[in-house]
Amino acid sequence: MTFEYKIADISLHEAGRHQIRLAEHEMPGLMSLRREFGEAQPLKGARIAGSLHMTVQTAVLIETLTALGAEVRWASCNIFSTQDEAAAAVVVGTGTPEDPQGVPVFAWKNESLEEYWWTAEQILTWPGAAENPELGPNMILDDGGDATLLVHKGVEFEAAGAVPAATEEDSHEYRLILDVLRASVAADPQKWTRTAAGIKGVSEETTTGVLRLYQLAEQGKLLFPAINVNDSVTKSKFDNKYGIRHSLPDGINRATDVLMGGKVAVVCGYGDVGKGAAEALRGQGARVIVTEIDPICALQAAMDGYQVATLQSVLDQGDIFITTTGGKDIIMAADMVRMKNKAIVGNVGHFDNEIDMAGLAAVPGVTKVEIKPQVHEWVFDAGTDAERSIIVLSEGRLLNLGNATGHPSFVMSNSFANQTIAQIELFTKHGQQAAGAEGLEYGNEVYVLPKILDEKVARLHLDALGVELTELTKDQASYLGLDVAGPYKAEHYRY
Ligand code: NAI
Repeated sequence: MTFEYKIADISLHEAGRHQIRLAEHEMPGLMSLRREFGEAQPLKGARIAGSLHMTVQTAVLIETLTALGAEVRWASCNIFSTQDEAAAAVVVGTGTPEDPQGVPVFAWKNESLEEYWWTAEQILTWPGAAENPELGPNMILDDGGDATLLVHKGVEFEAAGAVPAATEEDSHEYRLILDVLRASVAADPQKWTRTAAGIKGVSEETTTGVLRLYQLAEQGKLLFPAINVNDSVTKSKFDNKYGIRHSLPDGINRATDVLMGGKVAVVCGYGDVGKGAAEALRGQGARVIVTEIDPICALQAAMDGYQVATLQSVLDQGDIFITTTGGKDIIMAADMVRMKNKAIVGNVGHFDNEIDMAGLAAVPGVTKVEIKPQVHEWVFDAGTDAERSIIVLSEGRLLNLGNATGHPSFVMSNSFANQTIAQIELFTKHGQQAAGAEGLEYGNEVYVLPKILDEKVARLHLDALGVELTELTKDQASYLGLDVAGPYKAEHYRY
């Protein structure tokens, strides 16, 4: 059978392999899971459809999953986030560019949205599965929920007997999803129903994807068990916060090289990502203003020493605006036209609907100048005395992945150790509809990993940082009502 894949340039594989080798050194969690489970092969028989930024760190995750026995097909979960050299190295694997032996990857930097949804379908379309469902995917590893969405929408439309025509209100992207599903259902009318029936579970990486999963579960529409990896403490309190603290300034620097010190930076949202963003900008000497809708997070920001204001009241003060909310319509076109000349606008929330790019493009007389890929100057009133412009990064999509290379390896080792453990849990202990049958712990609901596994992920990263952990004595443990080996905190503890 031919080895299918679609990437930018397979000749980049050596550069990718060098980076992967260095990343492995910085990813002790994943490498230790390879040592612990390599022999037992707990993912033997798992056929994982992965949709997550195709970076160097993700390459180490993919090769951990295959080292544990899984077969994998991979796409990126964002059109700008692929590192082409990492994709090439993963495809080549232990082979050569002429005879690749790695994993089928469908991802390249700068995909169109049409191409993006094509890649999403490819990871769920396994050779031979139409004739033999046993050959189809049986696990999903998702970031933002697009692979899960495709399966759920496909099943919904197959049950309804037709994929509906797009309506006036449907976004451009939703129309593309309908197109993909219409073509696939025409070719194979039970494709998505059959695929969903084979899926034992999904592990979801991020806040936004998790929100979608809980919404499906609440409506009783979730078709397979899900593990919310994001809310492992060793994920959201590390990747979202310390990861963004590193990769946000990296993206701003690579895009603009503007000095952040002394500037006014406005951070919309003070959740985990916003906290990391604000800290990074303050660390560079910027004066940071936070916007929030949640009184608790607003109070936290104030106690952390930030001014908290509404966006509208600081539009003419900010030099840098960053959205981190996971919500929509945070910075609108009418806001952008009021900003200072050369203000920088970027987003690190998962989807591109935080910044009103369509509205910006529709401002009368606006022109768009490409400074370089993923850096655009939008000029208002060009040629008049009132001419001024703003700089928008990554067209409103995740700038830390579009303008830089995303979070560094060490923090992703925490996130991806959770992903790997979640895949093992779901693959080996999934249930049918309801949990509770012997050995089957996961029904069609959304779960977080047990705290003892969360603590294990943290433990795997201590030695590399020279951390000396204090051990509870038996007496201390019984005083606190704990086991010496953990877990050390109650479920309601917030860290
Ligand atoms: P979170 O829920 O902890 O924080 C979001 C915050 O935004 C909340 O405190 C909320 O009250 C606030 N908010 C919501 N609407 C707002 C509005 N209109 N104005 C001001 N504040 C508003 O979520 P988290 O974990 O911080 O994630 C945020 C987004 O970042 C999600 O889309 C997530 O998927 C994404 N993410 C991106 C990463 C990256 O590498 N760029 C890494 C991890 C998460």
